[in-house]
Amino acid sequence: MQAYTARAHTNIALLKYWGKANQTEIIPTTTSISLTLDEFYTDTTVQFDETLTEDQVSLNGQALTGNSGEKITRFLDDVRSMANISAKASVKSTNHVPTAAGLASSASAFAALAGAASSAAGLELSKTELSRLARRGSGSASRSIYGGFVEWMRGVDDQTSFAIPLTEQVDWDIQLLTVVINDQPKKIDSRGGMQHTMATSPFYQEWVDNTNALTVPMENAIAAHDFTTLGQMAEANALQMHATNTTACPPFNYLTDASWDVIQLAAQLRQTGIEVYATMDAGPNVKLISKSTDTDQIQAQLQQLMPNITTVVATPGPGLKIVKGDSI
Ligand code: ADP
Ligand code: DP6
Ligand code: CO
Repeated sequence: MQAYTARAHTNIALLKYWGKANQTEIIPTTTSISLTLDEFYTDTTVQFDETLTEDQVSLNGQALTGNSGEKITRFLDDVRSMANISAKASVKSTNHVPTAAGLASSASAFAALAGAASSAAGLELSKTELSRLARRGSGSASRSIYGGFVEWMRGVDDQTSFAIPLTEQVDWDIQLLTVVINDQPKKIDSRGGMQHTMATSPFYQEWVDNTNALTVPMENAIAAHDFTTLGQMAEANALQMHATNTTACPPFNYLTDASWDVIQLAAQLRQTGIEVYATMDAGPNVKLISKSTDTDQIQAQLQQLMPNITTVVATPGPGLKIVKGDSI
């Protein structure tokens, strides 16, 4: 069978997904809104092959085994049943993003896999179907099917939970200046972290209600190019998500002292008139929602605070791309 290759970019949520109403189908408790990024992405090639006796999965040239490999096989089983085929597959993936560091590698990974595996299986899926398929691999991947600003409508079941594009071509000045505090894999993965918090934090439901109440205001801020309102809501939502972790039982925390130093720097910069807001996912790395015209000043302040810190300026990126063959 023909090999297909797909490229999907990561996305960072401005309103976050942090908990599942249904674990197996990955139906979230909140509607989330994200920005797809140009800088961080995954390339994945899939080929179904009747001669293979099991799926062969590699990530960055290394065989992927254990829990990570099983997630891929379960995902491929889903694709095989949709396409009514039984052949095992060879999957070769390359992350142009640190893996499992809170920089959304699972989002680009499962969006790329959805694209490459469905095409290689002979399926011609719509973007909605691709988003639903990617969602079952990793929730945040549902949003990486599209470029720009994207909303994952939580829905109530497999049919109704998928992403839609809000603005695919972003023609105004917004960037995520990413401060790489630690690019090594986290100890508690997103899946385990959100499950534990949902089960034990007394503030969890409050966070869900607050997040869902912000869906329309966030849509409006994006439509109006209202940078200030967008930034304020995104920072508050991120901090509230992390507060549910520190109030879980037992508590845990993805943020480090260095993360807090950057969050506080953003607040100081705002007092001097430079508009910067922080958002953090399941990891210590901080993304500064900022304008390209302020990059130099922000970088200068950051280097003073943390000499030699690595930063990556990420701007709005494109949606899923699928091509025939084994390279893109
Ligand atoms: P992140 O913040 O990077 O999204 P997660 O905890 O959500 O972290 O997901 C990390 C997991 O996603 C990895 O442990 C692995 O199982 C999976 N993953 C990441 N990249 C790939 C890839 N290219 N191919 C297959 N699985 C991947
Ligand atoms: C904090 O999509 O990685 O980045 O669905 O269990 O694979 P699984 O989790 P994942 O969770 C992402 C959590 C987040 C917020 C977000 O991206 O919305
Ligand atoms: Co993830």
